[in-house]
Order: sequence, then C-alpha cells, then structure tokens
Amino acid sequence: MKITGNTKVIGIIGWPVSHSLSPVMHNAAFEHLGLDYCYVPFAIKPECLKEAMEAVPALNIVGLNVTVPHKEKVLKYISEFSEESGMIGAVNTLKLEGNRLIGYNTDGIGFTNSLKEAGYPVAKHSLLILGSGGAAKAVAFQSAAEGVKEIIIANRTVSKALSLKNQMKEYFPLLKIDVTGLSYDELKVVTDMVDSVVNTTSVGLDKGDASPIPGEFLHKGLFVCDLIYNPSETKLLKYAKEAGCRYVNGLGMLIHQGAASFRIWTGIEPPVEVMRQAVESTLFP
Ligand SMILES: NC(=O)c1ccc[n+]([C@@H]2O[C@H](COP(=O)([O-])OP(=O)(O)OC[C@H]3O[C@@H](n4cnc5c(N)ncnc54)[C@H](OP(=O)(O)O)[C@@H]3O)[C@@H](O)[C@H]2O)c1
Repeated sequence: MKITGNTKVIGIIGWPVSHSLSPVMHNAAFEHLGLDYCYVPFAIKPECLKEAMEAVPALNIVGLNVTVPHKEKVLKYISEFSEESGMIGAVNTLKLEGNRLIGYNTDGIGFTNSLKEAGYPVAKHSLLILGSGGAAKAVAFQSAAEGVKEIIIANRTVSKALSLKNQMKEYFPLLKIDVTGLSYDELKVVTDMVDSVVNTTSVGLDKGDASPIPGEFLHKGLFVCDLIYNPSETKLLKYAKEAGCRYVNGLGMLIHQGAASFRIWTGIEPPVEVMRQAVESTLFP
C-alpha cells in the first residue's frame, strides 16, 4: 500500500481497539481494488471521545467504524442518523459529508446478509435470540425490518429482554415478540417453538464456556447462528453440528457488516472474498 498526498483516511475508534480485525479486512479490500484509501486504528479513551469527534472533520477523516465502548455515546456528536441506527440507538459506521457526520449501523445487515449467504434468509422464519445487548438489538431490528415472522428474546436479565421488546414494539407494533429467561425449563419450551436460534450473548467467547442452550434441545431442522467467530466452533455450534442442524458462526456477520460500511464510505462494491481471506488468515494463521 502506497500512502500519497491524496490518500483518504478511514479508521476505527474504540477502547481498546488493538484486537480489531477491521484494519486488516478493509486495507486488503482497498489494496485489491487499487483504491487510494487507508484504514487505521484510533484507540480513543472514553474521556477523549468529544475531542476525537471534533477532530474528524478537522482532519478530513472520511469515514469511521465505531466499536465498544463508543457505539452509543457517539450519538450526541452526529448530525444525522440512518433509519436503522436511529431504531437501534447505536452506530458502528460514520461518514463525513462536508462538515457533517452521518451515522449508520451495519451490524444488523451484516447478520442478515450472512444468513442469506448461508441460504437462510430470516424473512418468514421464527427466531430465538439469546441475549439482549447491543448485538441482539441490531439482530432483532434488522430481522424485523426484513420480515421475520416471530421473535423470542431470552436473556439472563429478563428486564433487559423486556425493554428490547418494548423498543421494538414502537417500530413493529404487529410483530409477535415474546420474552423469557435462560433457565433450562424456559429454554426447553421456546426452542421447540422456533426454527432458528442466534446466540448474541458473550457465552462461548472463552474456550471452556458451556453452551448457552443445552445441546439436547437442538433438533434437526433448526438453523443455529453463534455471533462468536473466535473460537470458530463454540460449544453451541458443536452441539448444532452433532444434532444435524445447519449452522454458521459470526465470521460472516463480521465480514458483511464491514462490506456494508465499505459501500457507505466508497460507493463501490466490496471484494467480500478478499476481506474474508484477510480476516481468516489473521485469525487462524
Ligand atoms: N460477529 C460479529 O460481527 C459480532 C458483532 C457484534 C457482537 N458480536 C458478539 O456478540 C456478543 C455480544 O456482544 P454485545 O456487544 O451485544 O455485548 P453486550 O451488549 O455486553 O451484551 C452481552 C449479552 O450477553 C449476556 N451475557 C453475558 N454474560 C453472560 C452469562 N454468563 N450468562 C448469560 N448471559 C450472559 C448479557 O446478559 P445480561 O443482559 O443479563 O447481562 C447480554 O445479553 C459478543 O460475543 C460479541 O463478540 C459479534
């Protein structure tokens, strides 16, 4: 990659940010297409967010990804939101237009596009979402926007699941949404009622973690997605494989949220396979 006087700068803000795979993914795409862009990590402490956001137009940084812990706090520095980021109440992508920062959230579309790629569009299916954090919100709103038939939200803290349901009802009043906890008996009932399950909890990130849902509840015909991609096969996915379910991990979501951000910044179709290879070879050398 050759940095010139014309190179446009895109980056990611987060704290910490050193674990992010986005620089590798986007720089591989820019290089492959011969685009004069570069993508850099900015480790921004929470107390420095205001100054960092003020610097974006000053430094003519043409786009940013936003990651933990800034995805919600950054909202107050943005001029305009896309429809989905307004619903979700968080952004993961910013684009500078003139002096104005426009906010988007591509996590949800990353999720639904990864399922489409696996041959399982969410439309008309029923979906059990395990978890109610930021990722669950993006998954739930985008699935609703794409015509999911029914959603059941199961979370350790049931009040958070209820709060997500209430937020969704403001935008999708006719959608059937139920809420439950993560106990054995509760999960046993709801797993039988749906045709797909997505784990959006962080259970599984550590190699020794149990599955968030007992393996015995998984049955053939169920589609299972774990948003975790490292490890590439969590206990949940191991059980899904053993039960004969179709399943995907979270790598597709990571790639497709990146691809959607790339389209927003450049207006150019991203080289998805190049991006996937760059990420895979970094994760699993
Ligand atoms: N593939 C991708 O591109 C992608 C994108 C975003 C996120 N993710 C993954 O999605 C996961 C969640 O991220 P997030 O940003 O939504 O995090 P978050 O906002 O902190 O939410 C975490 C969720 O996990 C639940 N949880 C945490 N520990 C638990 C435990 N021991 N038992 C049961 N539930 C537990 C929390 O339940 P409570 O509400 O009860 O605390 C909450 O629902 C992470 O693994 C992250 O790596 C993947």
